[in-house]
Parts: sequence; structure tokens; C-alpha cells
Amino acid sequence: MDNRPIGVFDSGLGGLTAVKELEKVLPKESLVYFGDTGRVPYGSRSREVVRRYARQDMDFLLGHGVKAVLAACGTVSSTAADIGARLPVPYFDVVAPTARAAVMATRNRRIGVLGTSATIHSGSYAHVIQQIDKGIEVFPQACPLFVPLTENGFISPEDELVRIVVERYLEPVREAGVDTVILGCTHYPLLSEAIGHVMGPGVTLINSGKEAANALAAALEETGGLCAPEEERSAEFYVTDAPENFSTVAQLFLGHSVEGIRVDITFD
Ligand code: DGL
Repeated sequence: MDNRPIGVFDSGLGGLTAVKELEKVLPKESLVYFGDTGRVPYGSRSREVVRRYARQDMDFLLGHGVKAVLAACGTVSSTAADIGARLPVPYFDVVAPTARAAVMATRNRRIGVLGTSATIHSGSYAHVIQQIDKGIEVFPQACPLFVPLTENGFISPEDELVRIVVERYLEPVREAGVDTVILGCTHYPLLSEAIGHVMGPGVTLINSGKEAANALAAALEETGGLCAPEEERSAEFYVTDAPENFSTVAQLFLGHSVEGIRVDITFD
């Protein structure tokens, strides 16, 4: 038994897609969430900068006594996994479990990968997919406007702006005839409805936050790392910019109120 909280971080709101799943599969577990809303987006920054931010984010969570760290961010997962692997607690990220789920889901062996520019440039998902099955064709698509859209609360599929941006990015992926699409950035499941609408009902969407959360839950179960059943649950949400927008979108998405606490982390 381990009663310490699970640490989850992202550049902003996206990691809530992992939190939503964790609340479902591990409802007793305490959480510390860190969203670096003051520096989002990460996905259009250089590898060096993302790695520096990721190190600081992980240090913040370790400072809160977490028992495991989940990088609920495709960009960090794609550029800083080696930093996570050196942490003194178990580290989890989104790439491998998500790629595995997509391989299981595809029937025509054509998979679309949506991600930030940094994630797509890294080739991380394609690498894992093709390690499992070389015959699978991967169609990557960077969608840099998805993160600012979601961070600003534009998630409704009825919203004209959302529809135009989603259609524009997805056109080549749809034309490639994929039957499975990886939402390789944890912000993108916030746009699931809009993405599903454009791709059509025959296409399976793979939610990276959800897959990562399930992998973490399975690992904690297997290693006896879950909390005691009588333990009182706590959940803390830290952000690095004004918490109001975070709290509004978090409430919309998680279905319960979330109080964001603003923190300054040492940036150098
Ligand atoms: N949620 C992050 C990801 O999964 C967004 C990255 C960004 O801030 O651009 O990649």
C-alpha cells in the first residue's frame, strides 16, 4: 500500500483527459495535478526548452511527495522520456500505451497521428507503432491550433471556429483512408466530438490521456502501489497562470468543480 498521491502534469489543461480517466479507474487515489498554463503551448517550442520545462514540472511534483509521475503530455513524452526514466519514482507517459492501443484497434493497418509540431517532428508514435508492426502505415498531422483553441474554451463541435480548424487539419488524414486516429496530444480529446464528426463513425479515436492513465493504474495495481481503501482522497490542481479559465474548462470537462491554485515555479 502506498498512500502518497499520484502526480500528473501537462503544459496546461490537456492532462485533465488523464485525470478524468484516473478518477474513473482509481477513484480512491489522491492526485496532484500541475498545468503549466503560464507557458503553454510547449508543442511549438524547441526540444531543449521543452526538456527544461519538463524537468522543472517533474521537480515540482516530486516536491509534493508523489509516488509516481505521469507526463500527461504528448510533447513531453516525445522529447523528455529519458529525464522521466531517471526519476526516483516510477514514470509513465502517453506514447507507448497509446500506440499499442491504436495497433490493437486498426483493421486496415492505416493509422493517423495528430499531435503538436514537436510530437509529430519527433516521430515518437510512428516509431512505437512500427516496432510492433512494420506493415502499418502511419499518417502524421501536426495540429498546432488545437491547443490554443482548447485552452481558451473553444471545444464545442457546434462552434464555427472549431469546425473550420478541425476540418482543415483533418482533411489529409481523412483522405488517407485511416480507420484509427491517435489523439496524440492530451488536449485533443477535448475536441473528440468535433474530430469524430469530421472523421465519421467508422474511425476509432484513441485518447492518449485515457490510455496513459489506464497503463499507470494497471502498473500500480500490479506492484501493490495503490492506497489503502480507507484513505481519504485529496486532489490538488496547480497552475502557473490565472486559474479562472482553467477552472471553468476543467469543470466543463471533468463534470465537477476544480479549484486551480496559482503557483510560481522557479524557471531556471
Ligand atoms: N497536452 C500537450 C501535449 O500532449 C500540449 C502541448 C502543448 O502545450 O503544445 O502535447
